[in-house]
Amino acid sequence: MAKETIKAKVFRYNPDVDLYPSYRTYEVAADEKITVLQVLKEIFEKQDRSLAFKYFSCGFKFCNSCMMMVNGKAKHACLTLVGPGDEVTLEPLKNYPIIRD
Ligand code: FES
Repeated sequence: MAKETIKAKVFRYNPDVDLYPSYRTYEVAADEKITVLQVLKEIFEKQDRSLAFKYFSCGFKFCNSCMMMVNGKAKHACLTLVGPGDEVTLEPLKNYPIIRD
């Protein structure tokens, strides 16, 4: 049986080469709920090596390095769960300069 997917609409912008920001939509296979950070890692490892995101991997709200906008709200990517059939929009935090993506 085919796996269900999580649809992730990801903000993309590399100020060194892009004139404007854009969004790219990816689908990640998932049988159960996974974290937003796992979604980004799956995209990076299996679909798009150009995706840039930062985290230190504490996984418990200690470092705050994984903070991003998830469906318009500031969240920890390492703790925010999404599941099969979900659609999620991922963007950088507001009010910070964008280094890349
Ligand atoms: S990785 Fe440290 S808070 Fe998410």
